[in-house]
Amino acid sequence: MARELQKIVVMGLGYIGLPTASMLATKGHQVLGVDVNAKAVETINSGRIHIVEPDLDILVRSAVNSGNLRASLTPEEGDTFIIAVPTPFKEVDGNPKAPDLSYVEAATRAIVPFVKEDDLVILESTSPVGTTEVIAKIITEGRPELAGKVHFVHCPERVLPGHILRELVDNDRIIGGTTKAGVSKAKALYKTFCNGAILETDSRTAELSKLVENSFRDVNIAFANELSVICDRLGINVWETIALANRHPRVNILQPGPGVGGHCIAVDPWFIVSSAPQEARLIRTAREVNDAKPHWVIEKVRAKAQRFKDPVIGCLGLAFKANIDDLRESPSMEIVEQLLHSGIGKIMACEPNVSQDKVKFPLHGLKDVLKEADILLLLVDHDEFKDIDPQVTKDKVVIDTKGVLR
Ligand SMILES: NC(=O)c1ccc[n+]([C@@H]2O[C@H](COP(=O)([O-])OP(=O)(O)OC[C@H]3O[C@@H](n4cnc5c(N)ncnc54)[C@H](O)[C@@H]3O)[C@@H](O)[C@H]2O)c1
Repeated sequence: MARELQKIVVMGLGYIGLPTASMLATKGHQVLGVDVNAKAVETINSGRIHIVEPDLDILVRSAVNSGNLRASLTPEEGDTFIIAVPTPFKEVDGNPKAPDLSYVEAATRAIVPFVKEDDLVILESTSPVGTTEVIAKIITEGRPELAGKVHFVHCPERVLPGHILRELVDNDRIIGGTTKAGVSKAKALYKTFCNGAILETDSRTAELSKLVENSFRDVNIAFANELSVICDRLGINVWETIALANRHPRVNILQPGPGVGGHCIAVDPWFIVSSAPQEARLIRTAREVNDAKPHWVIEKVRAKAQRFKDPVIGCLGLAFKANIDDLRESPSMEIVEQLLHSGIGKIMACEPNVSQDKVKFPLHGLKDVLKEADILLLLVDHDEFKDIDPQVTKDKVVIDTKGVLR
């Protein structure tokens, strides 16, 4: 297919929208990035970035300097619109984990005046089944003359933070459309920067397949977390048990931890549960098992603290996984915040990847925590913690939720 350069409007310039917009701009497309965050718009227009992702600054600078990427608070006409705004959950009618589509709906309403015949609207946000059809409905209700004349597809994103630029190019992509013509158009566009296979389907299957990927991870981590609690009850080392079981050629158990965090794995399975509450029994239970783990860790600390008069509890790590600064939905953060209010002892938290202004309680250096703590609670397997000298921990009570201080 001939390579066709287009005018593309990207709604949402965060971890997904900004790399995508910049990548398309460096391939020669005219890209307008739109965000409601004025500071982000200003920063991007000056060729800089407002988020942390390796090498993204170089890509954005080159995209802006080429004249192909501009950022704005308001959309304009384009050939293709890409929606990459947040999709968290919120409480609705007693369901505390219902999908919050307000950002997707607001971004869609913002483009209604600018869509024209034969345009392509791509939803990249991770979304509950049926959301691409919701977008189509909002646009055709606002512009009835375009009914049946605009293409809608869902193209879910599965990049790993920290490796976004590589995975944006190398990962396979799923494109699910409400029409075959829309899928072909989207395929031609993604081919301009994506080396991975592009797999075609309908929009509802594409939506569910993305949710299924994260639910698969969640269910398997829940299995490991349940094993950690069972092993603790039986006085058996869970890390050794899993390592031994994984020597079976068809067994691959994941590693347990203090819970599951981040804005994907801890969120997306609820979108399936909300759509099929009676049927999604295992997916719901896995979420509940993972969400219960922080409470279990706190009770462990409480039990161990009883032998001390005024225990100092050193908490190592706050991020939701190793070697990142992301605190979203982090179980470690939840544990530390609850410990601070528990009265169990003096809490000293250490997080080498996060600056003091990002949290409301004092952060301490690793050296000070190791010196003062009676109880060491390891919550994240950051590289810094892997080198802790066993001589330093040998007289302390160690609660190691990640198996680092073995
Ligand atoms: N970050 C990841 O690793 C990742 C991976 C796969 C999928 N996703 C999914 O991609 C989507 C976006 O995630 P993200 O990490 O880029 O979020 P993000 O919070 O980093 O960025 C979203 C951006 O959208 C902007 N925004 C909000 N409402 C808007 C509106 N009405 N118009 C224009 N801009 C608006 C926000 O200001 C923000 O800059 C989510 O659905 C997420 O689940 C993210």
